Amino acid sequence: MQDDLFAASAQPADAAAARAAELRAQLHHHAHRYYTLDAPEIPDAEYDRLFRELQAIEAAHPELWTPDSPTQRVGGSVLKELRPVRHAVPMLSIRTETDTEASGAVAFDTRVRRELALGEGDPPVEYVAELKFDGLAMSLRYEDGVLVRASTRGDGETGEDVTHNVRTIGQIPLRLAHSVPPVLEVRGEVYMRRDDFEALNERQRAKIAAGAKGEKTFVNPRNAAAGAVRQLDSGIAAQRPLSFFAYGWGEVSGDGLLGSTQFDALMRLKAWGFPVAEQTRVCHGADELVAFHRHIGETRDSLPYDIDGVVYKVNRLDLQQRLGFVTREPRWAVAHKYPAQEQLTTVQAIDVQVGRTGKLTPVAKLAPVFVGGVTVTNATLHNELEARRKDVRVGDTVVVRRAGDVIPEVVSVLADKRVGDPPPFTMPAHCPVCGSAAVREEGEADHRCTGGLFCAAQRKQAILHYAQRRALDIEGLGDKLVEQLVDGGLINTLPDLYKLGFTALAALERMADKSAQNLLDALEKSKHTTLPRFLYGLGIRHVGEATAKDLARHFGSLDRILDASVDALLQVNDVGPVVAQSIRTFFDQAHNREVVEQLRAAGVTWPEGEGAQNTPQPLLGKTFVLTGTFPTLKRDDAKAMLEAAGAKVAGSVSKKTDYVVAGADAGSKLDKAQELGVAVIDEAGMLALLADPPTA
Ligand code: IVH
Repeated sequence: MQDDLFAASAQPADAAAARAAELRAQLHHHAHRYYTLDAPEIPDAEYDRLFRELQAIEAAHPELWTPDSPTQRVGGSVLKELRPVRHAVPMLSIRTETDTEASGAVAFDTRVRRELALGEGDPPVEYVAELKFDGLAMSLRYEDGVLVRASTRGDGETGEDVTHNVRTIGQIPLRLAHSVPPVLEVRGEVYMRRDDFEALNERQRAKIAAGAKGEKTFVNPRNAAAGAVRQLDSGIAAQRPLSFFAYGWGEVSGDGLLGSTQFDALMRLKAWGFPVAEQTRVCHGADELVAFHRHIGETRDSLPYDIDGVVYKVNRLDLQQRLGFVTREPRWAVAHKYPAQEQLTTVQAIDVQVGRTGKLTPVAKLAPVFVGGVTVTNATLHNELEARRKDVRVGDTVVVRRAGDVIPEVVSVLADKRVGDPPPFTMPAHCPVCGSAAVREEGEADHRCTGGLFCAAQRKQAILHYAQRRALDIEGLGDKLVEQLVDGGLINTLPDLYKLGFTALAALERMADKSAQNLLDALEKSKHTTLPRFLYGLGIRHVGEATAKDLARHFGSLDRILDASVDALLQVNDVGPVVAQSIRTFFDQAHNREVVEQLRAAGVTWPEGEGAQNTPQPLLGKTFVLTGTFPTLKRDDAKAMLEAAGAKVAGSVSKKTDYVVAGADAGSKLDKAQELGVAVIDEAGMLALLADPPTA
């Protein structure tokens, strides 16, 4: 390796020049594959080797340095100040509609039609709908295809020269691939992906924890991106991973090179190597814009980066020109925003809540704030480790995020806004509700209250869980009522539910006679249930709806489950050691068995005996793996037949597999079976086994 580099740098100047050019071309190609297309052709180590070879040549022959050399990407230049750059074509902003309703798009379309003097009989206007990226606007100037200048928007007329930092952004081509106009200014947004942002803040927190001076965490990806772009030291910028999307252009020499529509132009930019968001759509009329706004609004949370809205633009460039500008805004474009997903607020307290299984969750009590479309007063801190990692303290100013249906979260703390020195959060040693010891088991992040059903919080949660729609479905038994019933001592355990009488219920606060009777009716109705609902309703840790169904199907009756050994439980589909042990532990507790007995005594029933164990189980203890396509049976049907005969159907082949049933196009599972010497049969073989099972 060293010898290689030495050889590279020691070669004569013209050979070095040729090799440098060759290496640059290769590195440009691979950087585009890696950063923009996300489809590298060579391993990272090979890229690094080419890169270092070029660095060595440039070090030995400084005259060979070029502004578009990929070596510029690592940064290194340190400026005293950012120089002003006058934009050849001003960088304008666009009008914003904050309306959350469809009317934003409708109002825009109406204006455009009026300006273009279109009547009702005229066809819909064609638009391009784009994402509105939440980063900072950037103008990239290419001369003869080489990036010569990158500048921020500034006041629109004059921005700042940030070329040294922008060269470190892998997604921005330093040189354009095909024939390009002599002057091309590409406009777009520099932004930071959310995962890159989280990782950056993680690194910042580690630096701060290690005592580094002058380091801070960032409030949001846009702030982090803006800070990186305006660094004087490009070495620092290079460590802050930035990305880019193109959405427009400034000065372009030569007419018609970008095509005749906004969409053509974007595709041209894409072909030249710029990232263009794949969500970009051509839309006809207001209706399609509204549909786009709604669709993006619904899928916004799954994007790896933040957007704060969508942008509608008239597609035809000649119409854009005809529409022109009002003051500093184009008449042919509008931004349509979504409600913000992040807001600043303050932490008034940190409470600890107790969940159904005793999990203790620290929750930040917030000064009410409108975020993501609702007013938020609580945000989870998940567990003690998380709360301490983010270092959230009472009184802090914090960023709260609520994206979609996800529960609100504290993203970060504005450390410089902290007043005084409030103590870091610690988990209490005792459950705040019942006073039992709170413990954290080895290898787990969560603390748990050890009080079990002695703990009123766990009791309340257990009752709510039992009553929920997917369990026993007791209509009208909500959290307010459960609160009153438990706190008033009317209910201690689940069976107490069925002992409630009309007089006691009707005497409760805000309980009309009619509601009391409705609840009693709902309780009565809940007694006729199914085994899966009952099992799920018991709230056994790790037993969700699917597992409850599998258990019921496999064993057929509650008594068989009560007495099933861990080994027997392991035979159930998708039940592993943790789940099996959890079920066993639950039913080993005398008080849990009592609860089950009392519920049955109160009249809770379900049809029994539909489970597999009522039919003979000739394949009990055998494990099968299915692979490939079978000639007559669907995969699910084959699985059901095997399970009905007591077999376990696993997803991967191991030494414990008894049979692999292989159909057409069987892949690696078949190879694995052959490697391990596991018996391989086909569909016919499987049917024969079912018809005439082995006796051993
Ligand atoms: S077009 C003349 N398209 O939003 C039109 N802007 O005021 C110029 N932005 O800060 C802007 N995504 O950086 C346009 N797809 C998009 C955009 C977009 C984000 C930003 C832009 C500017 C603001 C518009």
